Amino acid sequence: MSEHIHVSTEGAITTVRFARPEKKNAITVAMYEGVTAALRAAHDDPAVRAVVITGAEGVFTAGNDLKDFMANPPTGESSAVFQLLLALVNFPKALIAAVDGPAVGIGTTLLLHCDFVVATARAKFKMPFVTLGLVPEGASSLLLPQRVGLQRASEWLLLAEGFDGDAAHRAGLVNVVVAPELLLASAYAYAEKAAAMPPEAFTLAKGLLRAPLREATLDALAREGACFVERLQSPETHAAILSFFTRR
Ligand code: COA
Repeated sequence: MSEHIHVSTEGAITTVRFARPEKKNAITVAMYEGVTAALRAAHDDPAVRAVVITGAEGVFTAGNDLKDFMANPPTGESSAVFQLLLALVNFPKALIAAVDGPAVGIGTTLLLHCDFVVATARAKFKMPFVTLGLVPEGASSLLLPQRVGLQRASEWLLLAEGFDGDAAHRAGLVNVVVAPELLLASAYAYAEKAAAMPPEAFTLAKGLLRAPLREATLDALAREGACFVERLQSPETHAAILSFFTRR
């Protein structure tokens, strides 16, 4: 388990927290594995009914750790990032995200797999895949246009335009925008409401809501994943990542 993923369970609710603030919660392979392990444990524990994913005050996550990504690139479905995405897609209980500050790359795309998303107005979403010479991941090429429309998704995915919590709320990516000091309370309110529902009916209903896009989501993950893995070796990506680390 990664020291940078903090997992705690109280009653029916597990909290998974990105805890690497000095690197803006950029996610390493070990951290992907930590979140996946927490989701699997929550999946298998009948007492757990909801998982809240969050970061620190002022930062959700800067997305993939770009150094770790080049040192330990994903190679296919068995890789840590894909295993996390599959665990998210297959998670049968309530999944809630609480977002404050930057939510970059997978920090935004993982929200597409959450049932409820709570954010602050200062949440800063960005999917800079193309800027980095990469392609969308997390089934965002399918789920984002489906959620917010193709035109807006094109601005966010093809032009990597950033947007804040209010814009995410208007577009339908976020359930509610709250003040930073109310973020966790609001996320736990969703978690408690979900946890109070009859568990079998909740899981069946969640499955039905996701069913129309389930096979397409798995196809999109595989299609994007193959392209993403290839693009990691591209000169465009190497140049963009070098430029990030030498920017100052
Ligand atoms: N991978 C690796 N390291 C990262 C990182 C990432 N994705 N994001 C931030 N860091 C590191 C920085 O290199 C810096 O490390 P240093 O202090 O050793 O120099 C530290 O985290 C703080 O980041 P900094 O850029 O100074 O913070 P900021 O508040 O100015 O900006 C972000 C925050 C998230 C907007 C900015 O860090 C960023 O754009 N990160 C890259 C996001 C990205 O492209 N993710 C990949 C998506 S696929």
